[in-house]
Amino acid sequence: MDHFELRNGVLHAEGVPLTRIAEQAGTPIYVYSTATIERHVRVFREALAGIDDPWIAFAVKANPNKAVLATLAKAGLGADVVSGGELRRALSAGIPAAKIVFSGVGKTAEEMALGLKEGIGQFNLESLEEAETLSEVAAALGIAAKVAFRINPDVDAGTHSKISTGRADDKFGIPYDRALAAYARARTLPGLDPQGVAVHIGSQLTDLAPSRAAFMRVGELIAALRAQGHQIATADLGGGLGVPYNPAVPAPPLPEAYGAMVREVTQGWDVQLIFEPGRVIVGNAGVMLTRVIRVKEGKTYPFVVVDAGMNDLLRPSLYDAWHDIRAVEPTGDTLVANVVGPICETGDTFARARTMDQVKAGDLVAFMTAGAYGATMANTYNSRGLVPEAIVSGEEWAIVRDRQPIEALIEADRLPPWL
Ligand code: LLP
Repeated sequence: MDHFELRNGVLHAEGVPLTRIAEQAGTPIYVYSTATIERHVRVFREALAGIDDPWIAFAVKANPNKAVLATLAKAGLGADVVSGGELRRALSAGIPAAKIVFSGVGKTAEEMALGLKEGIGQFNLESLEEAETLSEVAAALGIAAKVAFRINPDVDAGTHSKISTGRADDKFGIPYDRALAAYARARTLPGLDPQGVAVHIGSQLTDLAPSRAAFMRVGELIAALRAQGHQIATADLGGGLGVPYNPAVPAPPLPEAYGAMVREVTQGWDVQLIFEPGRVIVGNAGVMLTRVIRVKEGKTYPFVVVDAGMNDLLRPSLYDAWHDIRAVEPTGDTLVANVVGPICETGDTFARARTMDQVKAGDLVAFMTAGAYGATMANTYNSRGLVPEAIVSGEEWAIVRDRQPIEALIEADRLPPWL
């Protein structure tokens, strides 16, 4: 459930008409709803009721806007970060270092040092090679790094191939059958304090069975590690729970069902469970607002050309993702159209043969469920300024990232001395 609703015929974000934001801030622009973010935090927490002291570390990659992170910090969430940049953003938004998990397959020594000096709660290591580097960095700083190994459970999450991470040949984690050896080796390395096990099999998961299979393997590994004398205090179950994008396809399991499965599988583990939800917290809490430039006649269907491009919302182009597209002031009529952006690639197509609200040149449309992996994946391809972001809370709204003007891009370029 979200807080984007029609009121008097105009799509609102909470108490603010999207027409007002478009008039004052221009388009394209991302708009987030504070109440929706807060609601999803509450729903996720409630789904984990009965689990002792869950550590919920929001996956910053889903939406790193500082206002969004500060909203989550206020709600008591931690963070899952995958770069020094995300770590700094999380800290600057007020997320305590102790609640931060550092994931990612390519952490550099500099990033490790930053995490250590800030005192983050856990490093999720993806290889023994990485463990050795962290050991050197931590030992040099005289700090013990709290670590978990991310296990590759060889489970196919059944989602889009580009966002599946737990198959044996995916780049993530340590092969399950080499895990015991990795922990044994890590125990001998100075500066490392192995405290946990981690897993994450993919994103936009619509079936709980693969997660359940992966979690069972984590449970088996914890038992095997303890049998060898390791002390395991945390188990990081990753993120990945899907959100509904297309009302015409069955909705992914609700957080409640996910929580019930986790409670059942993890019973008796006697660890602190860590969760890294991203999309399920912010996905439905954002829309991308764009204006129709013109409607162009097509051979089979008209082309609705909007002023947002694949550079502003990459997901349809990259993953064939489906986003609901709604008129901000629907007339009740519909049309069947291809919805495209202004970028010079056929991949800049948001929807084909889509039955949608009737729109004409100048009308505003909203791409729904764009709060996760939307603005953060935007770029400046075709020399388009970086898309701005706004957030609403009740009747108030504010710009939380400025539109980056093209002048800023041009100024960042330099000419070599010979030109
Ligand atoms: N933890 C780890 C280690 C991850 O790699 C990810 C996402 C998450 C947590 C959060 O997953 P979530 O709960 O948001 O599914 N750009 C793609 C999604 C990439 C996900 C990458 N990893 C998209 O737009 O669908």
